[in-house]
Amino acid sequence: EKGSTVSITVVGASGDLAKKKIFPALFALYYEDCLPKHFTVFGYARSKMTDVELRDMVSRTLTCRIDKRENCSEKMDQFLKRCFYHSGQYDSEENFKELAKKMKEQEFEDVPLLMQDGRISNRLFYLSVPPNIFIDVVKCASTSASSANGWTRVIVEKPFGRDFESSAALTRSLKEYLVEDQIFRIDHYLGKELVENLSVLRFSNLIFEPLWSRQYIRNVQFIFSEDFGTEGRGGYFDNYGIIRDIMQNHLLQMLALFAMETPVTLEAEDIRNEKVKVLRSMKPLQLENMVIGQYKGHTKGGVTYPAYTDDKTVPKGSLTPTFAATALFINNARWDGVPFLMKAGKALHTKRAEIRVQFRHVPGNLYNRSFGTDLDRATNELVIRVQPDEAIYLKINNKVPGLGMRLDRSNLNLHYAARYKNEIPDAYERLLLDAIEGERRLFIRSDELDAAWSLFTPLLKEIEEKKIIPEYYPYGSRGPVGAHYLAARYNVRWGDISAAEHHHE
Ligand code: BG6
Repeated sequence: EKGSTVSITVVGASGDLAKKKIFPALFALYYEDCLPKHFTVFGYARSKMTDVELRDMVSRTLTCRIDKRENCSEKMDQFLKRCFYHSGQYDSEENFKELAKKMKEQEFEDVPLLMQDGRISNRLFYLSVPPNIFIDVVKCASTSASSANGWTRVIVEKPFGRDFESSAALTRSLKEYLVEDQIFRIDHYLGKELVENLSVLRFSNLIFEPLWSRQYIRNVQFIFSEDFGTEGRGGYFDNYGIIRDIMQNHLLQMLALFAMETPVTLEAEDIRNEKVKVLRSMKPLQLENMVIGQYKGHTKGGVTYPAYTDDKTVPKGSLTPTFAATALFINNARWDGVPFLMKAGKALHTKRAEIRVQFRHVPGNLYNRSFGTDLDRATNELVIRVQPDEAIYLKINNKVPGLGMRLDRSNLNLHYAARYKNEIPDAYERLLLDAIEGERRLFIRSDELDAAWSLFTPLLKEIEEKKIIPEYYPYGSRGPVGAHYLAARYNVRWGDISAAEHHHE
């Protein structure tokens, strides 16, 4: 069988991302029969390693889905046989030529000599290396190891620069060697199941889309929290901070999907056109609307938690925010005046990512008039819990069963673990599969990236130039109180910390 083949090269094969996410995702795709029939995986990095050593390293990262343990180890062996290693410098065309030679051997390994002409060999490079090496790798890969008769694609992941200018410079350099269609910029939040589901929820249920505007929605909240600090990643993190690490990309992407107009079709360009419109309609961000924080060490129950600046790789006295909260506004007819609140932090009390949609009061609510004002706050709230324990639930007012007339707040609940048996695939599985299939819907187009940076860059510069001191919060706490004042300014309460929420969980 001639057909086509794909060679997937993980550049930076011994790095953290490769081990934690990329190899496991490739194996999961293989196990699910999603990879092309003939494929090869190459690890590329500077350190010397044999194929056997790479396989050994990779094998320690692979897992099987809980629901699919059957002949898993057999599958692992088959997958590992398709993994190879090449050691080389990131800026050596010579070394990439050697890689290309090895690729070629594998690409035609199963085709008789006389039939090799008809086979198309596609090549995908995953850049799992620090951003200062991106260009070197792209240059070498495109000049010395790109496909002769099929496609060549490159997956890159943030940081895409650290402001508008450096990001634009990176894009320009990438485009010396690649066209936009070859560049797959990952924002892994777009690969998450519930983020993909946002559009399904909105556009294929009559009960949501008609309410999706300033007329019925009071505010929307995008919340990200982690219950661990930057442990070990301080070197990277300190140069970026939480605004660049989480807000400018993950939360903003969810906001764009949430707020966009109905795309003409589900095609990538139609969706990305709508997202970029939202980003370009955002009001400039105000420093007064931004709260920044940094975690400090403390001791609780005999356990000592480190401060951000205790990390050896973080410069003493660093002002880099590990927490931020802000209010954003979209200047268009649909969303005029609706606060979009974002909150992101490390070393908080919980690990969670969610979207909360708070609806307006029922006008002239009959039950408020009859039962006093304490029900005033019981407005509907739709919660999309992206992780962990995926769920979508809607808070409604309900009559407590019984002879009297008492109302409470209850949830209409779609709890994924209860409803769906299949394990939810990791974001990287979907994204890698899409890149192989040339589906660009979930990747960031360069104009989207520009718009995202235009929005955040002036504010980031102001914070750095004015050396704004972050509000310090204890490791493992709920974060700086400033976030509450910020929300209160817009008459908003953070949904994740209201009493009602805890009561019902
Ligand atoms: C990454 C950030 O993009 O996302 C990390 O750089 C963060 O700081 C991570 O921990 C969170 O991703 P997830 O999928 O674990 O929520």
